[in-house]
Amino acid sequence: MRTGGPFADTRAGAEGGPAGSLHAGIGLRHPHYAELLQRRPDLGFIEVHSENFFADGGAALAVLREAREFYDLSLHGVGLALGSAAGLDPWHLDRLERLVQRCSPNRVSDHAAFARAPLGDRSAVHANDLLPVAFTRASLDLLCANVSQVQDRLRRNILVENLSAYLSFPGEMDEPAFFAELCRRTGCGMLLDVNNLMVNALNAGASDPVRDCFAFVDALPREIVGEIHLAGYADAGDIVIDDHGSRVRPDVWRVYAHAVKCFGAVPTLIEWDTDVPALDVLLAEAARASTLMQAELMKTVLESPLP
Ligand SMILES: [Fe+2]
Repeated sequence: MRTGGPFADTRAGAEGGPAGSLHAGIGLRHPHYAELLQRRPDLGFIEVHSENFFADGGAALAVLREAREFYDLSLHGVGLALGSAAGLDPWHLDRLERLVQRCSPNRVSDHAAFARAPLGDRSAVHANDLLPVAFTRASLDLLCANVSQVQDRLRRNILVENLSAYLSFPGEMDEPAFFAELCRRTGCGMLLDVNNLMVNALNAGASDPVRDCFAFVDALPREIVGEIHLAGYADAGDIVIDDHGSRVRPDVWRVYAHAVKCFGAVPTLIEWDTDVPALDVLLAEAARASTLMQAELMKTVLESPLP
């Protein structure tokens, strides 16, 4: 277990970055590699999916190394399967460690997800998806053990993200309490995906989804949130899909404003993974997040009592 780790900017899971950047970041995706390097737009940071850079060489890694010279970096994994009873894949952990050594990211994150299951006596199968974990004591113990193993190996604390989930299991605690306990026991931080909160509230048929999301945010300990994700969702009528394929929705912006009020200047990412638009569209979304963050922080200052 690593507690009270080396938080250079004092936020959970962060190392070496500026203290609470007031500028949002974007996910760096393949269609924008060349344009981003050429234009070098003003961004708080860039985030990449760790698994896309596991190779020892190649063009993608060269792009990442060059981009790292100009931007803070968040490595966001989708494959560690931190909630799996089958344990961590040693190869995956090896590659992640090597990537962390190569590019010294400001943050490393993955999800509170189940994905690996035993297959036969010696191997395991990976679902290639982010499947939800039950919010139980047993599941928490398992997640804590896996997160601690990753942190010990990387010699740094990580962030763990909440999921958008399309099924749920009977639990012994609510999700904010589950994350609070995970962070307390392991020293990890939370990557709060605000869009995932909204997707879950809508799919649960909440009468006032924004209110439910506010309640989730209010229930989290202030100090555990080390990064925030914003994204768009698709409304298919009877279900809402977390597809990261459109602009951030107005209800999600409202919850984000509330999160900034609660947590302060948390590094914030625009996630866009399907139907990836022109770089300027992502930059405009990031600029909107930055403006909203700065406005909320200013409001907080103005509303504070004078000393
Ligand atoms: Fe996310």
